[in-house]
Amino acid sequence: MGKFNQREMIYEGKAKRLYATDDPDIVVVEYKDSFTAFNGEKRAEMSGKGRLNNLISSEIFGHLAKSGIPLHFIERVDELRQLARRVKIFPLEVVLRNITTGSIVKRLGVAEGAKLPRPLVEFYYKDDALGDPIVTEDHALIFGWATEGEIKQIKEITLKVNDLLKNLFSKLGIVLVDFKLEFGRAGDGALLLADEISPDTCRFWDSSTGDRLDKDRFRKDLGNVLGAYEEIWRRLGGRAN
Ligand code: TMP
Ligand code: ASP
Repeated sequence: MGKFNQREMIYEGKAKRLYATDDPDIVVVEYKDSFTAFNGEKRAEMSGKGRLNNLISSEIFGHLAKSGIPLHFIERVDELRQLARRVKIFPLEVVLRNITTGSIVKRLGVAEGAKLPRPLVEFYYKDDALGDPIVTEDHALIFGWATEGEIKQIKEITLKVNDLLKNLFSKLGIVLVDFKLEFGRAGDGALLLADEISPDTCRFWDSSTGDRLDKDRFRKDLGNVLGAYEEIWRRLGGRAN
């Protein structure tokens, strides 16, 4: 990609800031050191978190790119930033679960830690004020959040990402329990996997000890939050610098 000029900030979310560049199709994604949970009710700053999520997310996107997953990610720029294609995000959080934990256990009263017979895909309507409520595909179609073709593509890509990441992480001694993806449309109409894939957006359990190596350490006050993110980065082959 080479040189680019970072221009004005165009969006600030809970974990990232987006900046324009001279190319209207390309943005700079900058990872922040902030942690939030429970729709922003619980907050903290941890120095080094943005760097780790940027490194981890770039590594994972690089792995998915090799298998032909269509991505907004272009390349990592430095410790905190990535270049990405500008997309319009579908207002849907797509969650895939391999094992039951978290909100599904609370919502449905099902057993904790049960392996599902096949991956479960859920949709949530992306709206912090409403607490990101779970919705069905029909809600997405009827309210015009995505078309039938888009939903089909989104599900196919999500299942493929699951296969690729389950395989990648199992080799690193990590169980991919569940994760959340977001998708967007680029200016040329391409449907792309967007946002980030990191310990903020996945649940990673150590295969032998069951240790939580993800944001649940923050959500549940388990301690050593950044140590867990460091461990994910280390197992992905990352170096300290
Ligand atoms: P949940 O069990 O809380 O619904 O979370 C399912 C997965 O989605 C888990 O890997 C964490 C991730 N997630 C996010 O990335 N953002 C969110 O806002 C929520 C609620 C979950
Ligand atoms: N990401 C959401 C928030 O910041 C919730 C979560 O991940 O638990 O509020």
